[in-house]
Amino acid sequence: MAMMAYDEPSAAAFAATRHLPAEGLASWRAAVSRHLPVGPGDRVLDVGAGTGAWAAAFRDWYGVRVLAVEPAAAMRARSAYPEMVAGRAEALPIAAAGLDGAWLSTVVHHLPDLPAVAAELRRVLRPGAPVLIRSVFAGRGGGVSLFRWFPEALRVLDGYPSVAEVCAAFEPAGFAPVALEPVPQVSARSLRAAADGLRRAAHTPLALLDDADYDRGLRRLRAAARRTPHAPVVDALDLLVLR
Ligand SMILES: C[S@@+](CC[C@H](N)C(=O)[O-])C[C@H]1O[C@@H](n2cnc3c(N)ncnc32)[C@H](O)[C@@H]1O
Repeated sequence: MAMMAYDEPSAAAFAATRHLPAEGLASWRAAVSRHLPVGPGDRVLDVGAGTGAWAAAFRDWYGVRVLAVEPAAAMRARSAYPEMVAGRAEALPIAAAGLDGAWLSTVVHHLPDLPAVAAELRRVLRPGAPVLIRSVFAGRGGGVSLFRWFPEALRVLDGYPSVAEVCAAFEPAGFAPVALEPVPQVSARSLRAAADGLRRAAHTPLALLDDADYDRGLRRLRAAARRTPHAPVVDALDLLVLR
């Protein structure tokens, strides 16, 4: 069963609050560039592309054509990237093979059948093309600031796949891990902006919290924002690369 539905309210919350500022994108550009050697004419798959922010960024950074696949109509309707295709990772709506890389950003915890996803990626990628997975993995939530204010949400991470589980699921399709690195990103320019703009429906771990735990966390976050309103919010998510 899906962890959460990307319906109208959650898609609106996601589009309003989850796109990274330029500083946050810059650190991902540097990290992605180390592992995705692509340029104009190449084709990259964005799986679970959401509201298209990464597809648009990859197009702008590398001049590639991005095939953006996203199942939720409410997310596609808000896309910053024009060419979005309806579809799921387990049954990619792509006949042509030979793509030059795949990008999965904060999506693996929504995919109940990772071996099927890996088999699909093997089908559509050219041999040797990398799969880049941006995620918070089970047991590796320490770099994410939300969990400082909402520590109870860490238990939601137990339901996310671990790095070892993802690697094991991809291995039968012939993928092996080649890199795992935490990538610090500026998620919000100030703690006050983050506190003012927080939308519960935009974050799976918060959407799955008890209301009482959520309210307690919100009070902690607002108190911290009063103490240090101008501190930037920096989070470290992982980049896992398989080939
Ligand atoms: C947290 S959002 C991330 C969106 C985008 N990748 C980003 O980082 O901005 C997770 C996305 O995964 C999508 N998703 C859920 N189940 C999926 C599946 N089976 N196949 C592909 N995408 C899926 C959701 O619809 C949602 O848009």
